[in-house]
Amino acid sequence: MLNYKNALKFVSEKEINNIAGEVLAAKEKLLNKTGLGNDFLGWVDYPEKEVFTDFERICEAAKRIRQDSEVLLVIGIGGSYLGAKAGLSMLSPYFLKSSGTKVIFVGNTLSPAYSKEILDYLQDKDFSINIISKSGTTTEPAIAFRLFRNLLQNKYGASSNKRIYATTTIGKGVLYRVAKEKGYEIFPIPEDIGGRYSVLTAVGLLPLATSGIDIKAIIEGAQAERRACLNQPYLKNDALLYAAIRNILYRKGKEIEIFVTYEPKLKYLGEWYKQLFGESEGKSGKGLFPASVIYTTDLHSLGQYIQDGKRILFETVLNIEKPEKDVLLEAEAGDFDGLNYLSGKMLDIVNKQALKGTVLAHVDGNVPNLILNLPEISAYEFGRLVYFFMFACGVSGYLLGINPFDQEGVEAYKKNMFALLGKPGYEALSEELKKKL
Ligand code: PA5
Repeated sequence: MLNYKNALKFVSEKEINNIAGEVLAAKEKLLNKTGLGNDFLGWVDYPEKEVFTDFERICEAAKRIRQDSEVLLVIGIGGSYLGAKAGLSMLSPYFLKSSGTKVIFVGNTLSPAYSKEILDYLQDKDFSINIISKSGTTTEPAIAFRLFRNLLQNKYGASSNKRIYATTTIGKGVLYRVAKEKGYEIFPIPEDIGGRYSVLTAVGLLPLATSGIDIKAIIEGAQAERRACLNQPYLKNDALLYAAIRNILYRKGKEIEIFVTYEPKLKYLGEWYKQLFGESEGKSGKGLFPASVIYTTDLHSLGQYIQDGKRILFETVLNIEKPEKDVLLEAEAGDFDGLNYLSGKMLDIVNKQALKGTVLAHVDGNVPNLILNLPEISAYEFGRLVYFFMFACGVSGYLLGINPFDQEGVEAYKKNMFALLGKPGYEALSEELKKKL
């Protein structure tokens, strides 16, 4: 998958060899559970073992939802929605068929307009809710759950509880308690798997299965990648080499990594990647800043900066080798637009030459490029890719010397927001903030 030829102007094979000891030690910490955050390493083996515990139940629930609902509302934020959203965008056609259950994500924003429009849209629709929250207390999904649960209750009365699926920690938190009390079907989020590492659990699998995506293939892809990550020797281990090279680059001042794709439907994979790396690595004043772009679109916006701005960037380009679909460019009489030189070519060839040309231009502009070659867009490859990034992220976080599995920094905005909203218990902070505003 990884081709680092276009980074070798900036990182030598010697440096890659020199960092091997550190990388292998980081890998061992992940596998032996001896590093920071070692109580959040359940995701490492999950696709191999536990993933099948609830597999049938997930498939049955998805089938039921497809039968009785035009819409599945997935309520969650951060790791409790981005993986499913990334998979759904990647594995669905651009223009959805009108048949089938539509998955809509809510509770990931406090936008009143977004909430109101969906409330209005659902008035005449049959729908179900999948509320996803590991803690069960996160404000954005909790507000959305209150709003949409009320709508569901008004529509279906007592039977509305049968249309609510709760994905949460078993035995803990308010969501679990309410779910038990009301009789919602419950899917577990293992305690030892954090939100942004949870896409291969029911968190990602139930919404994806409801959309008709082959979740077994996703798991098989993740299993294959897990075996590669665990067993390949360093110089053949793409995840380890990727973690190694991005850390070498970081140590040389390349502090921003841009995730690049040439396929707009991978936009949310970029969002998922940004959360995974940003929330895992950005702490203690350290960390690579993850950004994402869609080319060639963004070559006409950010392209100038990337080619010529501050030289603190490197790019990780996801290259889809075989396009899902393609179109032929035909010759035209008169050639008024001067494009006849492309006639007889498929559009993917143009896209690929744009990729190659951009890689070469950016490397010339001192932006190292790493290429991840993915054979195609498929459920299997999605599973491989998410496992690859999670494993690389764990190793990379340990190389940085931080805990890749906590996210204490996220609490700061919450405390201020609660104080400003007058939540009981935050009175002193509220007074302090009012003086600053
Ligand atoms: O990765 C994480 O842990 C976070 O992004 C969480 O997924 C996010 O904050 C949502 O938390 P919860 O699932 O507890 O509602």
